[in-house]
Amino acid sequence: MTQTLTITRPDDWHLHLRDGAMLEGILPETTRDFGRAIVMPNLVPPVVTAKDAEAYRARIMAAIPEGADFTPLMTLYLTETTDADDVAAAYASGLISAVKLYPAGATTNSDSGVTNFDNVQGVLERMSEIDLPLCVHSEVTDPSVDIFDREAVFIDRVLDPVRRRVPELRVVMEHITTADGVAYVMSQDERLGATITTHHLIINRNDLLVGGIKPHYYCLPIAKREEHRLALVEAATSGDARFFLGTDSAPHSDPNKESACGCAGVFSATNTMSCLAHVFERAGALDKLEGFASLHGPAFYGLAPNVGKTTLTKQAKAVTFPDKIHTGAGDVTVFNPGFPLNWTTS
Ligand code: DOR
Ligand code: ZN
Repeated sequence: MTQTLTITRPDDWHLHLRDGAMLEGILPETTRDFGRAIVMPNLVPPVVTAKDAEAYRARIMAAIPEGADFTPLMTLYLTETTDADDVAAAYASGLISAVKLYPAGATTNSDSGVTNFDNVQGVLERMSEIDLPLCVHSEVTDPSVDIFDREAVFIDRVLDPVRRRVPELRVVMEHITTADGVAYVMSQDERLGATITTHHLIINRNDLLVGGIKPHYYCLPIAKREEHRLALVEAATSGDARFFLGTDSAPHSDPNKESACGCAGVFSATNTMSCLAHVFERAGALDKLEGFASLHGPAFYGLAPNVGKTTLTKQAKAVTFPDKIHTGAGDVTVFNPGFPLNWTTS
């Protein structure tokens, strides 16, 4: 018997769309299932000013497939020289929806990020005044901190002190990967939200490393122990409105992934909704999927849910998704959840 579930059209609250031929090649993978996406600004060079965001937005709009129902929600990349007036004007005009904080060196194209948080205090205070959310890549970059501990250490060393200094600022702890992240969010007020990726709900560090290294599972923050994955599934399926979907779908061409020094990023735009339906069904929480993928994110950002609907259908026979998306910037491997997928969207 086929099973169906109709939900409000989902959004993706953390997405990498890149630029040029890569953007053109991968954008249809997102516009198929998502009404909106918070678009990450870590291009080379990064999207720092309102002018940069306006130009990038125009390039994205030009690449949206004919007839697709999709709105990109732009972000600015916070640097130590970011101009608070430029940020405020960009928000007031409706151009941007958030500002992204990358600790310098934390991940792909984060060299222009923040080293000394005192230097961004003025911008954070201004953002708090105008109620513009800050999205945070929550990992320390201190080389002496083990890569598996970088999120937990960031909470104590950076995130909590920043929140104490600017308590009214709305903050999204991006792509949380640990039980520590879940516990921290739950200990705070509703001004702190968290996104959770598709892949961190499905893979742990054994999937990445046991039986040979799997470059397509390498991402940042890196996948953690199974107990942390279970904490993420519990948070995502709990119905708690502070947790919402941000796929962090991050395309890199296969040669850049399958390399002696491979890039971080999992590309999951193509099959995310199918993967999520599987995860939520397995957790006995299909009724919580709409909140996680379609309602909690807009509520946090102060937006209405999408008007459109998406129907998920479970079929007995496994669904096939393409293994790779062919783009003008090379092939991009689609996330392999490691189990058959039976849910499709329409
Ligand atoms: O795995 C990741 N890839 N994590 C990030 O934070 C950045 C992203 C990218 O841009 O490739
Ligand atoms: Zn990201």
